[in-house]
Amino acid sequence: MRFDVLTLFPTMIDDYCSQSILKRARENNIIEVNTINPRNFSLDKHKKVDDTPYGGGAGMVLMAQPFVDAYESIDISNNSLTVMLTPQGKTFNEKMCVDFSNFEQIILICGHYEGFDERIRDIIKPFEVSIGDFVLTGGELPALCLIDSVSRKLEGTLGKLLSAEEDSFSNGLLEYPQYTKPRDFRGYKVPDVLLNGNHSEIEKFRKEESIKRTKLRRSDLLRNN
Ligand code: ADE
Repeated sequence: MRFDVLTLFPTMIDDYCSQSILKRARENNIIEVNTINPRNFSLDKHKKVDDTPYGGGAGMVLMAQPFVDAYESIDISNNSLTVMLTPQGKTFNEKMCVDFSNFEQIILICGHYEGFDERIRDIIKPFEVSIGDFVLTGGELPALCLIDSVSRKLEGTLGKLLSAEEDSFSNGLLEYPQYTKPRDFRGYKVPDVLLNGNHSEIEKFRKEESIKRTKLRRSDLLRNN
């Protein structure tokens, strides 16, 4: 999977993707992460990428030319998806994440502080994604959420350490409670069932706890099943 990220702050993307599990996934050629900075495509002598809005109003608007030219510089595969990160988009969820993991290439368009000139949407026609009903200062964190969650769906990313299938949401339920050593921490004890080595009892306990936790915290997930 190749991620091409259009961003005015490429180090934000590079830094995160150079650590831990994503670093290993890049080293193992499971994912490739490239950044393209629209500022490098600005035809303005001061490398301007934003300007005041026609019609007036507060703030600045990201200019169409640097973004569209930067986008058109990318080598686009015929199994690719172009995503614009914006609070106006469809809310990202686990199903979308699985669907996205089937593409060969995902191009991510990040704004910063201000809105996009509408002609960026008209020309590129991206699929617009929001990561929740709140507004961030830019699309970089949402893009990283998408890169991270999609990457962990790809075979080999998590290795033997973790299983994406056992995660919260992948079976439509929240994850059961987990414990590690010691057996007793400040009087809080590990449930006996996890200590007796009876795997079918352990599985039953975990399933019941998952359902209990989902009912209590996210009953909307059970209704959607
Ligand atoms: N850019 C700013 N806020 C955002 C959000 N909630 N989701 C996606 N992109 C954004």
